[in-house]
Amino acid sequence: MLIIITTMNINSWLNFITKELSGLIENPRREAELIVMHYLNRDQLWLIGNSAYEIEDDKKLYEWIQRRSKNEPLEYITNSVSFYSQNFFIKEGALIPRPETEILIDEVCKYIESSFSGLIVEVGVGSGIISILLAQKLPLAKIIAVDISEEALEVAKQNIANFGFSDRIELRKGSLLSVVDEKVDVLVSNPPYIANEAPLESNLSYEPSLALFGGNIGDEIVNELLNIALDRNIKYFFCEFGYDQKDKVSQYLKNYEYKELTFYKDWSNFDRGFTLRL
Ligand SMILES: C[S@@+](CC[C@H](N)C(=O)[O-])C[C@H]1O[C@@H](n2cnc3c(N)ncnc32)[C@H](O)[C@@H]1O
Repeated sequence: MLIIITTMNINSWLNFITKELSGLIENPRREAELIVMHYLNRDQLWLIGNSAYEIEDDKKLYEWIQRRSKNEPLEYITNSVSFYSQNFFIKEGALIPRPETEILIDEVCKYIESSFSGLIVEVGVGSGIISILLAQKLPLAKIIAVDISEEALEVAKQNIANFGFSDRIELRKGSLLSVVDEKVDVLVSNPPYIANEAPLESNLSYEPSLALFGGNIGDEIVNELLNIALDRNIKYFFCEFGYDQKDKVSQYLKNYEYKELTFYKDWSNFDRGFTLRL
């Protein structure tokens, strides 16, 4: 990209960015709008009504376009991501929250009443979105959130502080529940569940492998968590999983006693997770 120092209005920037991104990523016009909206911290409506607004040329905007043209996720470029209609800080090293994880939050809230005052443990906190949403919806719950990634824990720490939950969500570094000796009432997790060798879209290469890959088959961490839940007799285990893992979970639990096992689907009608009540 040739960098020419000029001042252009929004309309010209949108045309310029669309051209730069054409053939490199899907929907270049929409991407151009998103880039400009984030850059100016304005919404779509404002953009439409202010197409003649002059944006002073800025190296940062060119840098954003260049990064996006290489399919780097916009969320890592802008350091912001929306989840459950709220804005969270995000950066490389933590998984970008996916919309389907909102369903996991709703599943927890179907079973756990707002008066619940026990201990919830989240395994694989990532950016912190699940624990923060649960802290909002279950104001009396104590929450411990675990991750093995120092980078993810840093992002979670910042989000937890931004939302004012530093005294309600305790972060711990470690694997699975190895750093939690307390009696756990509710276990929640969106663990890595993709098979190590699975072919992935190129934009996923920016996301941490630790957050994506669950082992050679993919469901190894889900199974380890199931074992822990059974071993420690955790009353509720809410878990997101891969679209092809429903039968494996049913099979895995065949020889164990439990009160209830229900599965839920995502908005594309793929199996996406389960609730296990012991
Ligand atoms: C799929 S991401 C989920 C992040 C976040 N909870 C979300 O839903 O967006 C999985 C997270 O689990 C963490 N993780 C992977 N293996 C782990 C382990 N053995 N113990 C604890 N955390 C682990 C990764 O570092 C990553 O942050």
